[in-house]
Amino acid sequence: MTVKEALNSRFSCRVFQDMPVEKKVLEEIFEDAFRTPSWANSQPWDIYVAGKEQMEKILQGMNDCRKQRVHTSLDLPFRGVWSEEAKKHMDQFFEDVYACEERRNLDFTMQNRNLFYAPCAVFICMEKGLSAWSYYDIGAFSQSLMLSATEHGLATIPAAVFVGYPDLIRQVMQIPDNKDVIIGIGIGYADMDVKVNHFKSQRKSVSEVVYRGIEA
Ligand SMILES: Cc1cc2nc3c(=O)[nH]c(=O)nc-3n(C[C@H](O)[C@H](O)[C@H](O)COP(=O)(O)O)c2cc1C
Repeated sequence: MTVKEALNSRFSCRVFQDMPVEKKVLEEIFEDAFRTPSWANSQPWDIYVAGKEQMEKILQGMNDCRKQRVHTSLDLPFRGVWSEEAKKHMDQFFEDVYACEERRNLDFTMQNRNLFYAPCAVFICMEKGLSAWSYYDIGAFSQSLMLSATEHGLATIPAAVFVGYPDLIRQVMQIPDNKDVIIGIGIGYADMDVKVNHFKSQRKSVSEVVYRGIEA
């Protein structure tokens, strides 16, 4: 598979099959992703892998938090104000993704609440207090991991919903308190019988983003 093919075939998988991911395959994916560049080769990523047993504990813990009406609180500062342009794309995304389902946002909500039925999740953590450049590195690392997973025939979804209750993740995964839980990436085999896994999200065009009014 070429990089171009991996970039174009990766998608956020919202329903996984109940099939485990082999440890050997995961290790190959990590080896690939560890080639990601980082500020002065600092390699700020710390990885915790949850398999079926931990996923069940996390799901149970999340359900308990919801029943007790505990608010989600991400470790990462979250900017609640989006630009008008970003809002337009987000609205379009929800309109498109809901259109894939008969029960529209109910299906989407259930997929999120069930962590997409992922048999495995990779929690990418980072020591607290590092600079914004390390967040940049984590983003690059995440994409490397997802592209390598794609080449290995696996589907992924990076999702904030995995890390809505970071203390729960720290507890189940035995992550020390001095680390932030930045993002969870669900990983596994996609259930291609569901429509949402055929959904292709839209992108801005090159002329919209790159040239902005300059004759190309
Ligand atoms: C940091 C981050 C957080 C995300 N959180 C969620 C989430 O909580 N739930 C969800 O369904 N999708 C989530 N997504 C997936 C995005 O909706 C998706 O990447 C975007 O719509 C583009 O679609 P694509 O990944 O299929 O290309 C997240 C993606 C990123 C990068």
